Formats: sequence, C-alpha cells, structure tokens
Amino acid sequence: MNCSIAPGKILLFGEHFVVKGKPALGLAVSMYVHVCVEPGSWVIYSRQLGFINHDSKHRSLFNTLIEKIISEYSSVQPLNIYIDSELPIASGMGSSAAVAVATTHAILSFMGVEFTKEEVWKIAHEAEKTVHYKPSGVDTTLATYGGFLYYRQGSFEKLDLKLPEGTSLIIVNSRVGRSTGEVVKDVLSRYEHLGEIGELIYSAAEKIVEKALDALRKNDAETLGELMLVNHGLLWAMGASSEICDKIVYDLLKAGALGGKISGAGRGGVIIGLINNQELPRARELLSMKNHEFYFVHPDYQGVRSVE
Ligand code: PMV
Repeated sequence: MNCSIAPGKILLFGEHFVVKGKPALGLAVSMYVHVCVEPGSWVIYSRQLGFINHDSKHRSLFNTLIEKIISEYSSVQPLNIYIDSELPIASGMGSSAAVAVATTHAILSFMGVEFTKEEVWKIAHEAEKTVHYKPSGVDTTLATYGGFLYYRQGSFEKLDLKLPEGTSLIIVNSRVGRSTGEVVKDVLSRYEHLGEIGELIYSAAEKIVEKALDALRKNDAETLGELMLVNHGLLWAMGASSEICDKIVYDLLKAGALGGKISGAGRGGVIIGLINNQELPRARELLSMKNHEFYFVHPDYQGVRSVE
C-alpha cells in the first residue's frame, strides 16, 4: 500500500480583493487529506463520503486524474483508493485540491515512476477543474508545495516566512456551507456600485497585505492580529461576512486571539484567528464552552509527501 498526505489551506489576507488584481497571501496548514492506494478494482472509498461510485458527482475528479496519469506516464494497474480527510468540506480549506494532489502523489509513488511536484500539480489542477469552475490554482499550489504563498493575477510566489514566534492559528468551522461563486458575484457587484469608495477599499486591502508581510518579517504578532481584523472589516464592508462569521470573530477575541477574520469566500466556511500560545488553554476552554468546532494548527512547509 502507498500512502500520501497533502495539506489544506487558509487565506491569511487578500481574498476577494485578489479577484480585481490585488495581492493575497495563503498558507498551507497542518490539517491533511490522507490517501492510500493498493491493487484493486478502482474502488474509491472516502471515510467522510462513503463509496464514490461511477454515478457519484465526486467521481469525475478521480477519473480525470487517472486519465491524465495514463496519458502522461503509462497504463496503471487497477487500484483501490482510500481517502480520509481532516478538512471540512466546502469550507474554503481546499479539500478537493488536497484530495487531488494526495491521490496523484500516491498513485505515482505506487507506480514507481520518477516524478516532480510540478507534475503532480499539473495533473491535480486538471482534476480540480472538474470540481471548481476556473480554479485559481492557489489551493492546488498550497497542497503541493506547502508554506506561505503570495499570489496576484495568476502568478504565485512561495515566500520564506514563519508565523511570529510563540503564536498559533485557530481555525473555527462555522459549519455553514457557501458557494464561492455566489459571494464573489455579490462582492463584485458591490465593488462596481461603490465606484471610488470601492477603489479605496481595495487599495486599503492591498496595503494590508504589504503591511502583513512586513509584520511577518518582523515577528510582530500584535500588528498581524490587528491587520487580520481590519481585513475582516473590509470584507464585511464588501458583504462577504455574515452574522455567524462576525460572532465567531468576537468569540475568538474573547478567547484571547490577537485577531481574526473569515478565510476565503466568507458567509460561512472557516474563520481563522491568531493567538499567543500561552492563551491556548483558555481558548480551548472558551471555544469548547461555546460549542465551536475548532482546530489549533501551524504552517505546513512541506506540502504533499509520502507517509508510512
Ligand atoms: O473560499 P475559497 O477557498 O473558495 O476562496 C475563494 C477566494 C476568493 O478570493 C473569494 C475567490 C478567488 O477566486 O480568489
């Protein structure tokens, strides 16, 4: 049996504004999709979704990547594929991209062919297109390479950064699903309607990314937390938040977080917070009391890899 894992992602800054050419900053985090393959008959089983049969809407991702692997390499003997994901589905954490990347990696490793991460990325990106209409590639890039990713207008740059010393990230699942396309459409229509005000908000969002990079380089957790809140405020102004998202941001602050914001499309999905490690026990207690589903995570710097 060959097993691979690929990390999920969060967007630290710049979502939505990136659609109009502003920069964004993504991060791969220590929550993973695990995929194992062994000789079989193309049975695909997900611990979360059950059997993914030929008539399942999830099957096309696998069919595409298997076809691509066959066309790029050689015929593949029939395998069974087992998937176990720590990532909430449809919450902006890139679960389908991580499944595509980990599955491609596990199959290529099983075949014993030589391959690069770039090749894994290409195959997974094609498969991701069956799930998301015109994916930007950010989810696939973070699942493949890990780390911090600066991106703007379709170009990606992996940055050598760390979270401020002594801090962690908290991810809270709002348990509210959302359609990225719908929120993006509404945000863009508000942007058009606001005219000059929209321009100013988008310029402020760009400055936030620049300042956040500076804060990360200076190990300045307080500023980073503050910028997360301001970024959340701008996303709120553009209509990308919701009552539950705002409530979770307040709960994160009450739990000792330095800042918090939606991550990704918003109006549901996951909400992220930055917290000093000494506050973690209190945060655990408070967030549990409020019945939140939450995770303490750290950056994943490796991306997809084989595991025992
Ligand atoms: O929630 P997600 O991971 O689908 O992220 C969407 C990010 C947006 O900036 C809102 C849209 C995009 O295509 O960049």
